[in-house]
Amino acid sequence: MTNILCIGAGYVGGPTMAMIAKKCPQHRVVVVDINEKRIADWNSDDLPIYEPGLDEVVREARGRNLFFSTEVDRHISEADIIFVSVNTPTKTFGRGAGKAADLQYWEKTARQIVKNSTTGKIVIEKSTLPVRTAHAMERILNYNPNGIQFEVLSNPEFLAEGTAIKDLENPDRVLIGARETESGQKALQTIVDIYAEWVPRAQILTANVWSSELSKLVANAFLAQRISSINAISALCEKTEANVNEVARAVGMDSRIGSRFLQASIGFGGSCFQKDILNLVYLCEYYGLTEVAEYWEQVVKINEYQKNRFVHNIVSTMFNTVAGKRIVLLGAAFKADTSDTRESAALTVCKGLLEEHAEVVVCDPHAIPNFRKDLGDLADKVIFETDPYKAAVGSHGLAIMTEWKQFKTLDYQAIYDSMVKPAFIFDGRNLVNHTELFNLGFNVYPIGRTPLTHQDDQNA
Ligand code: NAD
Ligand code: UGA
Repeated sequence: MTNILCIGAGYVGGPTMAMIAKKCPQHRVVVVDINEKRIADWNSDDLPIYEPGLDEVVREARGRNLFFSTEVDRHISEADIIFVSVNTPTKTFGRGAGKAADLQYWEKTARQIVKNSTTGKIVIEKSTLPVRTAHAMERILNYNPNGIQFEVLSNPEFLAEGTAIKDLENPDRVLIGARETESGQKALQTIVDIYAEWVPRAQILTANVWSSELSKLVANAFLAQRISSINAISALCEKTEANVNEVARAVGMDSRIGSRFLQASIGFGGSCFQKDILNLVYLCEYYGLTEVAEYWEQVVKINEYQKNRFVHNIVSTMFNTVAGKRIVLLGAAFKADTSDTRESAALTVCKGLLEEHAEVVVCDPHAIPNFRKDLGDLADKVIFETDPYKAAVGSHGLAIMTEWKQFKTLDYQAIYDSMVKPAFIFDGRNLVNHTELFNLGFNVYPIGRTPLTHQDDQNA
């Protein structure tokens, strides 16, 4: 039996370790966190994150070989392998503020590992980190008074929220980076063997530790770049009567380009894309690669442009004023099938509409508690309603923010009937059938398509 520990019981630490525990019943897996409430939730029937399929995986392993605890020090001392999956947000202060990764939680963890270890351990970077962080980690860990040897590996996580269990069960690849020394390669083999319990060997990639760290930032940058590319084109489509869905389809059918991540939207959200690109930009600037930094920064700039363009479009379409008008945001989560609202485009839209003095109603099946927290004091100005039919009564406009499948099949006739006319719908996800809604009487504003409006029809 190997004692595996994960520090950080968040969106990554919890599901990832639950999957390892499920697939490797011979190993003992403990997940620790300083957040007592989070750990209590992991030990309850009401898990701290909503993720399809997660309950079943946790239920199978918890209490058998999967444990959640706040006793960080004790479990560090007992561990053979430590995954570190703490948060690495964008720095908000000092040098690199607004771009560089804030590594304070990361460094604290490293120091805590040194303090509580009496035997050598494999320490694995699971968090997303700037390239060459392993070097700093090695320096902190290996300058210990007792001569204990730590081996630092990189094993970035590629799961996406909403599909985390599927992604963990059948990953496109698992990437493990290690030093090219004898001890580094031995540690690498230990981690390969864990994943090989369920992941085909051909999908377990090994690399040097720097390539592994950098590949994670680059993978997220490439994914986000595709979204910004199609979103930039959506603006051009709206000016030229082209349809962005048709363009994406035509472009994506080229097997060299591929069809995924070409869905035009209100802009990408989530805790990582923006943070990781800005981190990449900061690294490029640090190494004096100004042009490279500017190239990647544009991906984030287009995303901001897309979110602001959406708000502007709502206001200008609704006769240049939304003051006092009830507008329903259908969706608060940054994507479907998650309760996560970090960097959700719905936040930008909600704040933008509040600034225009609209009466904003936020409707989401799972994400309202997180959205409320993210809004802080502004939450008092927002109406929260889980029932879309109640939310729509007396509203002037609907804006689809999240592609929850239940929003696709709502009874839009009933909703239309309960709204103030002319009734507007702004589809930030191109989720619904625009022609059908237009035929019901809605003025329909999709992303990247000519709007369908009844502006000449006095009754609509
Ligand atoms: P999170 O904020 O949900 O979880 C991090 C947890 O670490 C928190 O619960 C926090 O309390 C805990 N923590 C911080 N310092 C600690 C300490 N000293 N000791 C014990 N616990 C501590 O973050 P997350 O979304 O799970 O992301 C973690 C890392 O994984 C980030 O680097 C992120 O970029 C990366 N990542 C995230 C995703 C995702 O889908 N969310 C996917 C791939 C990679
Ligand atoms: C993303 C990556 O997909 C994961 O591989 C990575 O591990 C993770 O970031 C991370 O490092 O945190 P995630 O942010 O959970 O995963 O979700 P995505 O499916 O990538 O969606 C991100 C955002 O892009 C969402 O707001 C989504 O709605 C939007 N999106 C996605 C589009 O607007 N269009 C698309 O075609 C795809």
